[in-house]
Amino acid sequence: VIDIRKLYGQTGKFTYDPGFLSTASCSSAITYIDGDKGELLYRGYPIDQIAVQCDYMETCYLILYGELPNAEQKKAFSDRVTQHTMVHEQMQFFLRGFRRDAHPMAVLTGLVGAMSAFYPDSINVNDPEQRDISAIRLIAKMPTLVAMAYKYNQGQPYMYPRNDLSYAANFMRMMWATPCEDYVPNPVIERALDRIFILHADHEQNASTSTVRLCASSGTNPFAAIAAGVACLWGPAHGGANEACLNMLDDIQAKGGVAKIGEFISEVKDKNSSVRLMGFGHRVYKNYDPRAKLMRETCHEVLDALGLHNDPLFKLAMTLEKIALEDDYFIQRKLYPNVDFYSGIVQKAIGVPVSLFTANFALARTVGWIAQLNEMLTDPEYKIGRPRQLFTGSVRRDVKPIAERG
Ligand code: ACO
Repeated sequence: VIDIRKLYGQTGKFTYDPGFLSTASCSSAITYIDGDKGELLYRGYPIDQIAVQCDYMETCYLILYGELPNAEQKKAFSDRVTQHTMVHEQMQFFLRGFRRDAHPMAVLTGLVGAMSAFYPDSINVNDPEQRDISAIRLIAKMPTLVAMAYKYNQGQPYMYPRNDLSYAANFMRMMWATPCEDYVPNPVIERALDRIFILHADHEQNASTSTVRLCASSGTNPFAAIAAGVACLWGPAHGGANEACLNMLDDIQAKGGVAKIGEFISEVKDKNSSVRLMGFGHRVYKNYDPRAKLMRETCHEVLDALGLHNDPLFKLAMTLEKIALEDDYFIQRKLYPNVDFYSGIVQKAIGVPVSLFTANFALARTVGWIAQLNEMLTDPEYKIGRPRQLFTGSVRRDVKPIAERG
């Protein structure tokens, strides 16, 4: 706690807490994390039960509305989502303004922000009905936008959504099908993608979620606030970690693969080096990341189903995991693989380009962002976010005529 009287003779006190390490910015009933126990609950339900017994649509319903849907509610919700999967035809002209090799997160930030221009009938953040339609539109259109960004990058025709498929299968088809083939989604990959979406759906007040809340607290429209979340997620310390993890594996592979792991680990352990084992460690989970345990299972299922266990890159990842888990440096610091270690490997195995990993994270997290935004706006204590600062600049001084300045 800083007494600001000591600084400028003003009155009052405030807390100085860079990185919000011990400051709660809000109250929330959506997601609970116990980092020491390695526990993650969505609306009270443990993530391991949700990941095994529910699909992503049920998870979205739970996160948005607070309860798991019954069969009828699930059908009505899924039908609503599938009715909104198409995007305005003119969005493709907006997309064409980007360079083809633009990073998908740059494109996605633009496309999501632009939705407020294409769907002006649902931009009033203070109207609960409009907020609900925006929520459905965002959840429904995110896969379409990510797939369009990918197809544009590849120079391939866009695939329109097909509403008889599951959320994940429809995304797979928009990503990987071409108009001249009858695409049949592989059920193992469909389930793996659905699980990635479930495990990334919400994670309480992380950087991107706090960004969405702060942005929406000004009363701006939901599309603008979610675009801000996408932009924040892009950073390598947040959603960009799975991309960084795969780049690290590629790097070790290029230097000699499994034989070079020892050298790489020594570099990570060197006090004078800034190299980290990407995909290991977590700010909150100091025991294990419960999502990583589930993603690890999926990772082995996918590698088995696709016959990739002997692929050099995946062999390297599995050997690296084993060596690090047995190494005192990582054991003493409680550094375990996090969800990104395995989600990166799974996405690589199923053919998602590395540069699209974070866009898929954004797709999955959209529901969490919207639920948090709704929660904030319906909180009677809600105020525009306005952090204090500890001013360290010059005290008051007078402007001199330009000729007298040194
Ligand atoms: N590799 C090597 N050493 C590490 C790693 C790592 N991945 N993570 C932490 N350490 C070491 C630090 O060097 C430090 O060692 P020291 O005590 O000898 O100085 C000690 O462990 C504690 O590190 P902190 O940085 O204080 O831990 P913090 O909790 O702040 O960091 C973080 C968490 C940022 C996730 C870190 O573990 C990291 O950089 N991991 C790699 C990146 C990554 O995978 N991020 C994804 C997070 S999950 C997600 O976003 C969904």
